[in-house]
Amino acid sequence: MLNGRPVAKPGGPFSRLETGTPGTGTDTPGTTTVGTVDMVEPRLGLPNLGLGIGLRTVHYNDILGHWPPVDWFEIISENYMDSHGRPRYVLDQISERYPIVMHGVSLSIGSSDALNFEYLKRLKALAAQIKAVWVSDHVCWTGVAGCNSHDLLPVPMNEQTLKHMIEKVRDVQDFLERPLILENPSSYLAFADSTMPEWEFISRIVEATECGLLLDVNNVYVSSVNHEFDPEFYLRSIPHEHVVQFHVAGHTNLGTHIIDTHDGHVIDRVWELFRLAYQLTGGASPLLEWDAQIPEFSVVHAEILKAQKYIDGEAVDFSSDEASAPARADGHSETVPHPASFVRAEVE
Ligand SMILES: [Fe+2]
Repeated sequence: MLNGRPVAKPGGPFSRLETGTPGTGTDTPGTTTVGTVDMVEPRLGLPNLGLGIGLRTVHYNDILGHWPPVDWFEIISENYMDSHGRPRYVLDQISERYPIVMHGVSLSIGSSDALNFEYLKRLKALAAQIKAVWVSDHVCWTGVAGCNSHDLLPVPMNEQTLKHMIEKVRDVQDFLERPLILENPSSYLAFADSTMPEWEFISRIVEATECGLLLDVNNVYVSSVNHEFDPEFYLRSIPHEHVVQFHVAGHTNLGTHIIDTHDGHVIDRVWELFRLAYQLTGGASPLLEWDAQIPEFSVVHAEILKAQKYIDGEAVDFSSDEASAPARADGHSETVPHPASFVRAEVE
């Protein structure tokens, strides 16, 4: 028991479900009645899809030509919501052969603006058309007063924001008629108005709304360096039964801070944190994000296959990987990519 939370046994079912006799009714998806208390099933009852890759335009021909043995793909929702050209044709082909998960960057759940139900309508329609296994977005805001910053901006983590976001998450889930899966962001600044740590803020959202958690382990690491907190404490403190999916990715270490660039291999420390998170949660679907300086498909595929060795508990030596160094020697470009910039500017 840590911080008042039960800890799932490695590889086993959520411990609280072992303490009583399951009832016969399941009131809402992802919950099981134990005695008089509703318990959340691991991953909200959603499947562990295996090892997934973020679908990117540069890999279309590779995938269509070879149908690689990837367990599932994640798409950036906004890249396909309004597309009826080649991207949508390719997605339809892929969705006939692989499970697809939708990952959005425009919900802006933390904004003081009202929800955009036109956006949600298109999001829901695409999810139905491609039979998306789940739909995710970020704990962030992307704009205000109708202006889009095209960035995933942090929120002040206090009671006022919490109440605001919980109401909006409930409205989104009611509209989508499915759980929303929310991702912890990477961040580079903190608000003076914040009154609680990120792990507590996110935990209270997911527990109040019964939504899912997309645990980006790289983001935990990036923010832990930028804000000087213990990433393992963060991983042990979240409600593990709500974790539906993992993200892993590369980043850029600038020495004084880290930027979430998704432009290289996953470093050893992030893989080690992933192993801990996988054990604590009893397992969920890992997904590799590689969004800038994207190499050929075989390199991306090989990177996510490393996850299996950490899941299996094998000792892995990736010391020869160039990205294992704490700081990049190449210095990178003056502008760094960010998840919100991964939405294609043009339809191909
Ligand atoms: Fe992510």
